[in-house]
Amino acid sequence: MVLFKSKKIVGLDIGTSSIKLAELYVSGRTAHLSHFAMVETPKTGIAGGEIIDVLPIAEAVRFVCEEAKTKVKQTATGLWGPSVIVKKISIPKMDKKLAAEQIKWEAEQYIPFEISDVNLDFHFLSTTNEDEDSMDILLIAARRDQIMKYIEIIESSGQTCSIVDVNGIALANCFEYNLGKPKEPTVVLNIGAQYTNFIVINGSDTLFCRDISVGGDLYSSEIQKSMNMSYDEAEALKLSAAYNTSMPEELGQVIESAHETFCNEIQGSMEFFLNTTPGVNISKVYVTGGGSRTPGIVEALSQELQLEIEVFNPLLNIKVSKSLGVDFKSQYGDFISVALGLGLRKAGDA
Ligand SMILES: Nc1ncnc2c1ncn2[C@@H]1O[C@H](COP(=O)(O)OP(=O)(O)OP(=O)(O)O)[C@@H](O)[C@H]1O
Ligand SMILES: [Mg+2]
Repeated sequence: MVLFKSKKIVGLDIGTSSIKLAELYVSGRTAHLSHFAMVETPKTGIAGGEIIDVLPIAEAVRFVCEEAKTKVKQTATGLWGPSVIVKKISIPKMDKKLAAEQIKWEAEQYIPFEISDVNLDFHFLSTTNEDEDSMDILLIAARRDQIMKYIEIIESSGQTCSIVDVNGIALANCFEYNLGKPKEPTVVLNIGAQYTNFIVINGSDTLFCRDISVGGDLYSSEIQKSMNMSYDEAEALKLSAAYNTSMPEELGQVIESAHETFCNEIQGSMEFFLNTTPGVNISKVYVTGGGSRTPGIVEALSQELQLEIEVFNPLLNIKVSKSLGVDFKSQYGDFISVALGLGLRKAGDA
């Protein structure tokens, strides 16, 4: 949804573990990342996949803007988790101009919220055959009370909220900017702290977009429980394991068993997608997100899905300003796909 028109925009990804801000300059097919910062998300602000307290998050957004030294006020952010539903639907073939009204009527049966409580958006999919009498649409419904909270956060941080997008769609945008439109259906997993954005893209279409409530935090919680320590200690132990070549046996076993839980969830969504989208095969899976750094996660997923997995490079087609440091890609590359996908937006698209 575009709220204000402007050309320069910063992408703001409010995650459950960290908030990332990216400012890019795009001219033609060249993008340049000029400003970036990442700060911790205040624990009191988000619970159960929802913003529960606006003020601490607004403070953190103000801080991330200061850290990034951005002067751009217009901000694009993304919704995620249980307040967003993205669904492919079919409606009778009709003039695209008339479709909006029809979609509003059709939407009710597909979304688990009151239609009066959501904002609806949609994209026409190119999968529709000329001679079919229906057309495919990607329906996006987001709970209005959560949208209002994001707007409140951004406005009270001193920024202006210009675009409220969906993280999975921003991820697809970032993928396409870097690797182009995939010729075969491709899965991209952004493994965060509490959520994994699972998207399937094909050509210029996003065929599937779902946030699964598992991520890196699952591993830390399992370590906390099994090894009898505080959550912060468990998180620190997990992070240190990622940097050490050898791992204590007990820790290795806990991570292994968490892989099983994580991979089962991903496999469940993969099966759901394949069962509900006849005739489609997945040829390739890309992973990104802080959780993709968990030791052994890529191998475990590849084993479970029986598919080739590659780590997505969100900076393949984006130049990084020297002022952000020579190690920028290795330090932040896994965390920034959504912020970049949002920062690549311009008013006029949403
Ligand atoms: N080196 C590492 N090894 C293992 N895990 C890591 C590493 N670095 C970060 N993580 C994990 O990545 C997660 C944070 O990733 P990210 O910043 O992508 O999440 P987020 O966007 O804040 O969360 P979400 O998308 O779920 O709202 C945390 O669970 C953290 O423990
Ligand atoms: Mg995230």
